[in-house]
Amino acid sequence: MTCLLTGRKDPAVSKRKCQILRMTLLALLVVAGVTRTTIPVAHADVLWGRDYFPNVQLITQTGQTVRFYDDLLKGKSVVINVIYTRCRDRCPLETAKLAQVQRLLGSRMGTDIFFYSISIDPDWDTPAVLREYAEKFGVGPGWLFLTGKADDIATVQKKTGLYSRTDAVNPDGHLPSLMIGNEPTGQWMLNSAVDNPRFLAATITNFLIGWKNREPVIAKSYEAARPIAGFAAGSYLFETKCAACHTFGEGDGIGPDLAGVTHDRDRAWLEGFIKAPDKMLAQKDPIATALFAKYKQVVMPNLRLGDGDVAAIMKYMDAQSAASRNRKTR
Ligand code: HEC
Repeated sequence: MTCLLTGRKDPAVSKRKCQILRMTLLALLVVAGVTRTTIPVAHADVLWGRDYFPNVQLITQTGQTVRFYDDLLKGKSVVINVIYTRCRDRCPLETAKLAQVQRLLGSRMGTDIFFYSISIDPDWDTPAVLREYAEKFGVGPGWLFLTGKADDIATVQKKTGLYSRTDAVNPDGHLPSLMIGNEPTGQWMLNSAVDNPRFLAATITNFLIGWKNREPVIAKSYEAARPIAGFAAGSYLFETKCAACHTFGEGDGIGPDLAGVTHDRDRAWLEGFIKAPDKMLAQKDPIATALFAKYKQVVMPNLRLGDGDVAAIMKYMDAQSAASRNRKTR
């Protein structure tokens, strides 16, 4: 007979023997497979399970009370960061980048992967404030914005590696980091929250679900992502620091579309605004004030760019503005 296992016609191997051989091999494979995945699981139960994470109560942007371990972590793959809506520096960029990652992950959001952005300014960030902030960034299913008691949040921060002391360099105690974790396997990894979103989406998927799902890691909305246009200084800076909120000729996103902006606005104003939008707003610059009123909750962040960076970005914006046909009127 032909044994399915060996593929050879072998009269010495009876049908029964072939079956036994097949079952044995299958059993071996199963054992090998199980051992591979259960070792980290058993490990995780001890190290980073219920006993490790606090089960404190937090409140979502829709006012629902949830428990940190039972409702948010247990059995799930998660991405956790800390934010506060009054943050004028890096948080808006961080949230905008995560919103891009969310789009790249597509239907995996809320089924395979959950995002949690926890406020470190819980007195100000009520569920209503968080809801408005989330809406501004186009937050979809599977992404919760959380507030709660300050002490509980500090405990969560410490236990998730997202705690940072405040000092002169870091006055708000906010780290632009993401903790990516897979509670069932006990794998946790700290990442920069302001990496290239496509890199982040691929890292998150590979790290969290790659082992159980071998399909292409990026959902179909991958095609919708803009290509990273080379490493020329201006385009690189724009792609990494601005593109999460701005486009040229594709319509307003989190921030205004920038088609034609170098034509329509005064150069010195643009340079000043790109360098320190917060200062211009504080000085009640009329254009900055009008823009701020129009783009609701989100402010253009001060990205601490040097003069050289601003010059490179201006050059890039000149080229892009000229190339984008649908100029908007400001
Ligand atoms: C987190 C989102 C975000 C990021 C990142 C961001 N911006 Fe903005 N930007 C905005 C918002 C929102 C406004 C509207 C003004 C406001 O609300 O403060 C704006 C306004 C602007 C304007 C004025 C547009 C006009 O109509 O005059 C320019 C120019 C601009 N941004 C350039 C940049 C550049 C260059 C970068 C990268 C170095 C950047 N932005 C990064 C959100 C962002």
